[in-house]
Amino acid sequence: MSKKSLNIEFVEYDSTNGLDKDLLTLINCAEDNLQNAYAPYSNFKVSAVCKMENGEIIAGTNQENGAYPSGLCAERVAVFAAKSKFPNQNIDKIVITTEQSNTFPVSPCGACRQVLIEYEITQNQPIELILKSGNSKIWKFKSIADILPFAFDGSSILKKWQIHKYLF
Ligand code: THU
Repeated sequence: MSKKSLNIEFVEYDSTNGLDKDLLTLINCAEDNLQNAYAPYSNFKVSAVCKMENGEIIAGTNQENGAYPSGLCAERVAVFAAKSKFPNQNIDKIVITTEQSNTFPVSPCGACRQVLIEYEITQNQPIELILKSGNSKIWKFKSIADILPFAFDGSSILKKWQIHKYLF
């Protein structure tokens, strides 16, 4: 028997001071996009912006529904739109913002983490994650795996020859 532990590293910024210009632009884009959220039931607006490898920026917001489970989180709206439009482009980073402010930023739900890690695994390149909620501190993670350790990897349900076809 042996005890194991896990260490997760991320960077915390007290404010936008010190962030590089490109990231600041992306954060501003995500915050401007908050107004497009459709959240009449929760009144909790969330916005996500994906930056693709080719420089394209795809934004999404949470889209609620009177039949509650039919709605979708901002992260999944953004990522699905990005991968529908640019199926062969890697996702470089995703910025997630909310309207409401707290000391620490809101972090994505489990279902969105699972969706994000699917693309991170298949593109074989980490997706940088930046979280900011109103005037909260800003958190920057190098990889989705950092917020979803021990993730389920869909490739384990593919047969060997399928994995080969899929990845190469
Ligand atoms: N929401 C997101 O858009 N992303 C998350 O990661 C968590 C929650 C949305 C779903 C719903 O519209 C509202 O926030 C309240 O849960």
